[in-house]
Amino acid sequence: MQEFPKGFFWGAATSAHQVEGNNIHSDWWDWERKSPLIEPSGEACRHYQLFKQDFDLAKSLSHNAHRLSIPWSRIEPEDGRFDSREIEHYRDVILALKERNIEPIVTLHHFTSPLWFAKLGGWGSRKAEGYFCRFAEKVVESLSGEVKYWVTINEPIVYIYHSYILGAWPPHDKSFLRAFRVRQNMLLAHKRVYHQIHGIYRKAGLSSPLVSIAKNMQAFFSTSGSLRDKFALRLKRRLYNFEFLERLMSCSTLDFIGLNYYTRGVAGGSGWNLRSMLVDTDERVRSVFEKNYLGWDIYPQGLFDVLLSLKRYAKPVMILENGICTNDDRQRWEYIRAHLESVSCAMKQGCKVSGYIYWSLMDNFEWDQGFGPRFGLINVDYRDFKRTVRESAKRFAGVCRTGRLD
Ligand code: BGC
Repeated sequence: MQEFPKGFFWGAATSAHQVEGNNIHSDWWDWERKSPLIEPSGEACRHYQLFKQDFDLAKSLSHNAHRLSIPWSRIEPEDGRFDSREIEHYRDVILALKERNIEPIVTLHHFTSPLWFAKLGGWGSRKAEGYFCRFAEKVVESLSGEVKYWVTINEPIVYIYHSYILGAWPPHDKSFLRAFRVRQNMLLAHKRVYHQIHGIYRKAGLSSPLVSIAKNMQAFFSTSGSLRDKFALRLKRRLYNFEFLERLMSCSTLDFIGLNYYTRGVAGGSGWNLRSMLVDTDERVRSVFEKNYLGWDIYPQGLFDVLLSLKRYAKPVMILENGICTNDDRQRWEYIRAHLESVSCAMKQGCKVSGYIYWSLMDNFEWDQGFGPRFGLINVDYRDFKRTVRESAKRFAGVCRTGRLD
């Protein structure tokens, strides 16, 4: 039996565009309207209207934490025009969590941006940092009394990889140069917002907030032991897992490490060119590992390895996402159970882990994959938006309630 400490955070995550519905001022919404090839998010899960009902379910499942995002495009639908009704909406959302004794963990950027910002060059623009800080300041000043945990940017490298290396996500700008610039702008933006948030709390006489990013990490392997593959492996591990993180560590702008872990990754490809070394190989598709609905390898040992690799930073780690899309709910529970076992083993090896947040509370809009992949602890029927708690959610609730994994 594995035992987790008292005060450990247990819960699930969502992000605005994926669950709320009708985020009409965002760049992603614009793309959905223009591209006939992708499924539009539409009303998503109608979480914007049904959040109280959803939090009742989270409460009934013994969650004591919940991660959500506040969409910039609702708060600032036009350059410099802030919508106070939307800020009030998110105050209500956060208060609804607190009334249920659920700790809110709030993300300020989860893949989508306002369309006006995208049109001005988005994260590739020299002004990106300033725009993002202006939005962050507004939100944090309004909600500082209610929120202790802030995540500035969700998975910067995943965003850069899909939007600027593969060119598959908005703004579809396949360019190494821009990828580098966006990385730079996101680093600057995080650092500035980090200090901004701390400054706001200090000025208001509030106790210190805890600020981080959500860093996606993978357990990486190479396709062969050749010199080239070994080099590709080192490069990929460095750029994907550690480089961004260490930049923020070196200037002390992470109060904890927010970790997102799903799967293992393979470095390989062909030739010595950078693109082929960085993009995912189809090795994953051919590997012997059990897969999720999207074909990602299920590799719980990787979570243990990743946690151990973070030990040297001597910062508490909060797992902000870990989850599986599957139509087989027994597989979901097995995934959760095996990953929690990895967390527990890592903790026994001295890793400080302060929480486990499952992705996701409910089935939702999986970006360019549409509504097919089902990650939820709660099933959503998209015809009538009816929620049904899955068996895996009940088993996970047992762990959340007791802190014990049998
Ligand atoms: C993202 C989520 C996404 C999940 C599953 C994470 O990379 O933060 O938005 O739904 O993975 O793909």
